[in-house]
Amino acid sequence: MKINEHFLDLKDSYLFATVGRKTAAYKAAHPEKEVIRLSIGDVTLPLAPVVIEAMHKAVDDMAHKETFKGYGPDQYCYGYDVLIDSIKGNYARKGVSLQSSEIFISDGAKSDCGNILDIFSTDNVVLVPDPVYPVYLDTNVMAGRKIIFADANEQNGFLPMPDESMKADIIYICSPNNPTGAAYSREQLKVWVDYAKKMDAVILYDAAYEHFVTDSHLARSIYEVEGAKECAIELCSYSKTAGFTGVRCGYTIVPEALVRGGVSLNKLWARRQSTKFNGVSYITQMGAAAVFTEEGERQIEENLNYYRRNAKIIADCLDELGIWYTGGKNSPYIWLKCPNGMKSWEFFDYLLENAQVVGTPGSGFGENGEGFFRLTAFGTEENTKKACERIRALLHQSS
Ligand code: MLT
Repeated sequence: MKINEHFLDLKDSYLFATVGRKTAAYKAAHPEKEVIRLSIGDVTLPLAPVVIEAMHKAVDDMAHKETFKGYGPDQYCYGYDVLIDSIKGNYARKGVSLQSSEIFISDGAKSDCGNILDIFSTDNVVLVPDPVYPVYLDTNVMAGRKIIFADANEQNGFLPMPDESMKADIIYICSPNNPTGAAYSREQLKVWVDYAKKMDAVILYDAAYEHFVTDSHLARSIYEVEGAKECAIELCSYSKTAGFTGVRCGYTIVPEALVRGGVSLNKLWARRQSTKFNGVSYITQMGAAAVFTEEGERQIEENLNYYRRNAKIIADCLDELGIWYTGGKNSPYIWLKCPNGMKSWEFFDYLLENAQVVGTPGSGFGENGEGFFRLTAFGTEENTKKACERIRALLHQSS
């Protein structure tokens, strides 16, 4: 028996586990202190009433012989028509037309980000931005793929553009970005699409934060860009859009037009899913199907506005302190430059010890993240205000 030795190339623990462990150690040593967590992007508002109502109804369906459901329909890898149609409607509002067979319901974008790699050879070269959401990197390290990096930095506003000296087969793009909050315009994405087509590469486009976009020149789906259906897979989630972090539901779009080596990637993914996955629960799918209804959109927009206001509270605080940042607009993340030249973990400890505020050290997302720090707008309004008051007091005093 041999283990997968590529796992030994991973860092000891997943970034958020390290942050969680350090926070727990501080709390255990200082039980009297109130610690505010603005680190992992986990939502704090409850599910929208339309979602709860739909889930209650689905629970009742499960209680009666006439309406009980077992496995989901196998036509579209266990996705129910009502949910698939509502996702089609969400795309149609962005001017994108999809076929039902192109939509695969999943238990979230994180799992599918890892799972999708099953359909690609381990010989492929992978291009990820630096800094990067650790899942893109770690899942490829686990498979032993060669990884190259696109430099995101202060100069390019953390929005790297392709460079033909970079030879890649699989390209990861996340916009609005996790961790930097920066978002690509349609024109910038068109450059990526043209590059991918030239390289015969496939873009894995993570659109988990698309519902935060309000500026009209920014893309909410890569398929808003001409030619993207021939080179991109899009991964999306209800987690941040509708507060489903604890419910688990997402969707992956694999266009019928996406063909590599003469093989349809849609067919490969359908084969993979029907073999390794038995679908998302009926109750969850019915809850998700309520999200993109007219009333659902109205209710989730209220929640998104709440987080947008939190993002503005943080951005205003940083503006006042003269701290450089990206995000905070069109995104729930604020990516800031650590004050006084501090390194990321140094600033993490400084904030935790002196303000009892927890964020995520930028260096945990890659080398280019060193000296940067991420705060999330997903906390409660009360905690966000309190955290900003503490940060303001601390940094005013130290400047
Ligand atoms: C984050 O904080 O980066 C996200 O919550 C992680 C995730 O969505 O998996």
